[in-house]
Amino acid sequence: PVQITSSVESDKIIRRKLNGYVGFANLPKQWHRKSIRRGFNFNLMIVGEKGLGKSTLINTLFNKDLYNDINIDNNDIKFDSNLDDLQKNSISSTIKINTLKTEIEENNVKLNLSIIDCINFGTSIDLTNSWKPIIDEIDSRFDSYLELETKINRSNLIIDNRIHALLYFIEPTGHSLKPLDINFMKSIHEKVNLIPIIAKSDILNEIEIEDFKLKILNDLKNHNIKIFNPINYENDDDETKIINNEIISKIPYAIVGSNNLIKLNDGRLVRGRSYPWGIIEIDNEQHCDFIKLRQLLIRNFMEELKDLTSKILYENYRSNKLIKMGINQDDSVFKEFDPILKQEEEKKLHEAKLLNLENQMKQIFQQKVSREEKKLQETEADLFSKHKEMRDKLLKQIKMLEEKKKDLESNNKLLDNQQIHQSQQQQQQQQPISSP
Ligand code: GTP
Repeated sequence: PVQITSSVESDKIIRRKLNGYVGFANLPKQWHRKSIRRGFNFNLMIVGEKGLGKSTLINTLFNKDLYNDINIDNNDIKFDSNLDDLQKNSISSTIKINTLKTEIEENNVKLNLSIIDCINFGTSIDLTNSWKPIIDEIDSRFDSYLELETKINRSNLIIDNRIHALLYFIEPTGHSLKPLDINFMKSIHEKVNLIPIIAKSDILNEIEIEDFKLKILNDLKNHNIKIFNPINYENDDDETKIINNEIISKIPYAIVGSNNLIKLNDGRLVRGRSYPWGIIEIDNEQHCDFIKLRQLLIRNFMEELKDLTSKILYENYRSNKLIKMGINQDDSVFKEFDPILKQEEEKKLHEAKLLNLENQMKQIFQQKVSREEKKLQETEADLFSKHKEMRDKLLKQIKMLEEKKKDLESNNKLLDNQQIHQSQQQQQQQQPISSP
């Protein structure tokens, strides 16, 4: 017989035994079938400086050459189409967001995976707030979800494009975190489930890794940076709890990535990296924390990551956003069922969107106007200098002509004088010589 618990009042629990079979024991099976049919989706963002092994790790994690088989969602490449080429070139070191989408299938279970790769992170000369495109990406995914959710005629299934986890790659320096690491993590830790990992940890030895992990955890604590911490596994059985505690205790994971297969002396083929002093096996827990990371992301906590995104991170974002728009959240439970309030909420969202669009248009207009003004000023200056040049030339010519005129006049005068002189001489010669 099935035992059910019915809660009448919070402090009064009545337990009843059922006499016959009702059938709700099949609920998990129904849910299971439904989930398998729909498939699962998971959106993983990866952030880290260049060359820290991001693409290698993603390929290693999903055992697939994702970066060659990719389906790049070009719409996500963040270039403002209104910027002209000149501006684009000048911001070539700004972050670009590429979304790689793929479908992975294992034992008839489909996983729709999106990898959101943040290209050029940490390459900008001025790092202050250089990661804004990443924040914009996270926010815009929340906004789209909010927009779909607040629509009166929403479809049954809202596609969840929100970021469910962010893998942050830390350079294996062995020292404290860099200002870039701290400032970036500080700016996103309340928007995503942050999972810090030590990249290329094969360059550190075991003691150095433990020491580095402590330093990282200390830095995170001192800066009040929250990292992923599951809350829903406290009710699990003891064995699961131990496994889960073990998974969480290893954060920040010391990771080694590789897709190369190496043959060991005992004949086994393993994924690993080979060195003159030995081989590091990726899938060996004695060698690195790769297995723990995979367990966290895929096996044990994928649903928890999505739950936390939806119930805590997104809810915080949503209520802050609605409060900013002047919508009171106190009666949000009732609002779900109140079409007028819902419509108002949707209207306000729409207005905010329009305002945003208007501001963007104004900005673009302003840019264009100032560009035209600059062009006009340049043309004016050009005309002015040409005019001056011509005037100078003319003045020079006038001066030259005047000098020529003066020369001619003086020559004329000279000739006149000569003529007068000559005629005087002739006159004198023609006069008869008077005898004494
Ligand atoms: P960008 O796309 O330029 O940002 O690089 P990335 O972060 O995607 O790095 P990528 O995976 O391309 O790896 C860069 C180099 O590091 C390659 O030569 C990899 O073989 C190597 N590499 C990747 N993972 C590891 C690792 O765990 N340890 C070591 N030693 N090398 C690694």
